[in-house]
Amino acid sequence: MEKTGKLYGVGVGPGDPELITVKAVRVIKSADMVFTAASTKNNYSLAVDIAAPYIAPSATIEPLRFPMTKDEVQAEAAWTGNARKIAQALKKGLTAVFLTLGDPVTYSTFGYILKTMKQVMPDADIETIPGITSFHAASARLNRILVEGEESLLVTSGAFGGSRIRHLHQVENIAIVKAYKNIKDINAALKEAGMHGKGVAVSHCGREKEEIIGNLDELETRTPDYWTLILAAK
Ligand SMILES: C[S@@+](CC[C@H](N)C(=O)[O-])C[C@H]1O[C@@H](n2cnc3c(N)ncnc32)[C@H](O)[C@@H]1O
Repeated sequence: MEKTGKLYGVGVGPGDPELITVKAVRVIKSADMVFTAASTKNNYSLAVDIAAPYIAPSATIEPLRFPMTKDEVQAEAAWTGNARKIAQALKKGLTAVFLTLGDPVTYSTFGYILKTMKQVMPDADIETIPGITSFHAASARLNRILVEGEESLLVTSGAFGGSRIRHLHQVENIAIVKAYKNIKDINAALKEAGMHGKGVAVSHCGREKEEIIGNLDELETRTPDYWTLILAAK
């Protein structure tokens, strides 16, 4: 019987091409197939750009589409279709990588792949290679302690505004990804939680368009970029 291949979920880090792990580089070099999430508008992938120096010339690069839709049936059909493409590669005995920015198990499309592969190919050999997250990169960029001593850290999404930030108890530090919309409500919630004063926003951390915004109120005067996160503390 032919040996089946292996899928690696690989985090390539937050954007600085030097913030990719040695293990990620080794695995990417060994890949016959490179999968990544493609934008619905074009096939450009920053994750592929970062990994490009390590992708074998003979490897096939296949962007997978993940429609941003609230229609669950449509979304699940897309995830299943994507998982089937990966399963086909594994059944041919190929080594495949699924590249994600930052870390693959932190707000990543690889999460959908993991869930769907369990249904499409329950015996698939899958290994996750962690990556440096955007908020670790941002803390490092600012020489700012993320959490220490007996403190706690909340990692949350700002996509729905400040609802997850209000009424926090015993959380001294917070990292908010997807802080590009609902910024007014996020700011209001941070003020209520007494965390606004020490808040800093970082956009495009470690990339060409990097920007550090020390006054979070300033974000309300413009639409923050998608690649924006906020670090805040009591
Ligand atoms: C879908 S999440 C992906 C998180 C990623 N898997 C990680 O480990 O950091 C996208 C959000 O991550 C944050 N993000 C990712 N890379 C970033 C960067 N280089 N600079 C600032 N924020 C970033 C932004 O808040 C963006 O809206």
